[in-house]
Amino acid sequence: MNNEDKVLALRQRRAKAYLGGGEKRIEDQHAKGKLTARERISRLLDPDSFEEFDMFVTHNCTNFGMEKQKFDGDGVVTGFGTIEGRIVYVFAQDFTVVGGSLSKAHADKICKVMDTAMKIGAPFIGLNDSGGARIQEGVDALAGYAEIFYRNVQASGVIPQISAILGPCAGGAVYSPAITDFIFMDKKNSYMFVTGPKVVKTVLNEVISTEDLGGAKVHAGKSGVAQFITENEEETIEMIRKLVTFLPANNMENPPTVVCTDPVDRYIEELNTFIPDNSNKPYDMYDIINSIVDDADFLEVSKAFAANIIVGFCRLNGNTVGIIANQPKVLAGVLDINASVKAARFVRFCDAFNIPLLVLEDVPGFLPGSNQEHNGIIRHGAKMLYAFAEATVPKVTVIIRKAYGGAYCVMNSRHMGADVVYCWPSAEIAVMGPSGAVEVVFKNEVSAAADPKAMMQEKEQEYRDKFANPYTAANNGYIDDIIEPRRTRFRLIRAFEMLATKKVLNPPRKHGNIPL
Ligand code: HXC
Repeated sequence: MNNEDKVLALRQRRAKAYLGGGEKRIEDQHAKGKLTARERISRLLDPDSFEEFDMFVTHNCTNFGMEKQKFDGDGVVTGFGTIEGRIVYVFAQDFTVVGGSLSKAHADKICKVMDTAMKIGAPFIGLNDSGGARIQEGVDALAGYAEIFYRNVQASGVIPQISAILGPCAGGAVYSPAITDFIFMDKKNSYMFVTGPKVVKTVLNEVISTEDLGGAKVHAGKSGVAQFITENEEETIEMIRKLVTFLPANNMENPPTVVCTDPVDRYIEELNTFIPDNSNKPYDMYDIINSIVDDADFLEVSKAFAANIIVGFCRLNGNTVGIIANQPKVLAGVLDINASVKAARFVRFCDAFNIPLLVLEDVPGFLPGSNQEHNGIIRHGAKMLYAFAEATVPKVTVIIRKAYGGAYCVMNSRHMGADVVYCWPSAEIAVMGPSGAVEVVFKNEVSAAADPKAMMQEKEQEYRDKFANPYTAANNGYIDDIIEPRRTRFRLIRAFEMLATKKVLNPPRKHGNIPL
């Protein structure tokens, strides 16, 4: 064969590899409303930017006739490319090849891109669509998974790791995405569970559908396993591209800055009259967020889970900022177990990747009750406290309205290391709400009074006058300024610009012991 023929042979071999499990299986994949691995990658990455590794890798298993089932690439497409011109590493499992199941060779390909992403310092994106460990390979497949898990953990906090679930993700296979920073699931085809409906039926005699056990809605809303839920995989891919634009390539870099066309000194007049006069009346925190961030562009994380707290990425003057905001519209913005865990994980992600934190606070306290206590609000609430206190990125808090009790302390208070704390004039900073406080402190006066109700109201007003404002905290120097709401955007941009060179090192240690 001359060299020209060799080139032609290479082309033929590549063309065959591109077809994965063959045309019939590609048709089946499309019939399920799913793209193939290569179609997914080409949508995820900038046009013509993909460089594939290991296209000709095959497994070497001979159990159960597997020697007759060999496909170039062995069920996973791996390599690197760019998103908005920045390098990312990627794998996409190919369900058309033995159900995308993971052989040792398949796992080695994934490990190779993970190792390279770590060396280079670039994000790692996994597009999962697999029947799990390749059953015919036995322990070799398990070894492959464990090697991936190990790398996920080593990469945690070093490079951003993003997982999309675009089909099945079952058994121990779920633990690789679980360790990554963000999981995307779509409502159409993705599901995740440690044990599937059949096993659940056998062991527990519980009948449950795949979707109800581990579909996107369950994991985005109930379990909190998935941070993003989408209508379909096209939307997932689009959102991954967007997410990456907010993030640095690795923990040694700052997030990318974009040109900001939204005026820095934009005054938002309506915010001066936005907070209801009755402090028990809810309002929508999204209105505040959207009005102050650049171009009302806010990428929310874990939107469907613990909606009483809002977390997500925005930009202020073109720089990425992570927002943590109580939502008075849901459970009055109270902190419960799920809200604490959601916020803690987000804060730790931002801190690991040099993303400054902005807290917009309106919190009446922690949620009381045996359900919360018995399920560990002490342990879980402590996670949020821990996350804020250990974060060394620039930290700014704006107390919008309520900052009561322990929740005042843990929501990035001055005392826990906030660099700048501003209040709106509507702020109320106290140990508890007026009625609760009066019941404890003035119970004797109230019960001895000729008119206990009137006395209660009088004492409540006294307490409100003293604490239901930001001035006591301002007198004590606990807040830096009481700002006009309309100037919030401008003041925040200035604060973050001032903090851009902040350098704080926590004490040297192997690692802390966050109450898991
Ligand atoms: C080998 C597999 C496979 C697997 C699917 N296939 N999963 N081959 N190992 N794990 C093959 C099928 O035999 C079939 O081959 C082809 O892929 C397509 O699968 P179908 O079943 O036809 O597709 P579908 O009807 O869409 O069902 C998909 C599925 C089902 C729900 C994922 O295939 C399934 O239940 N697979 C097994 C799931 C599982 O239990 N995996 C192990 C989990 S435990 P042919 O040639 O017939 O078309 C695990 C441990 C990890 O992963 C531990 C890590 C610590």
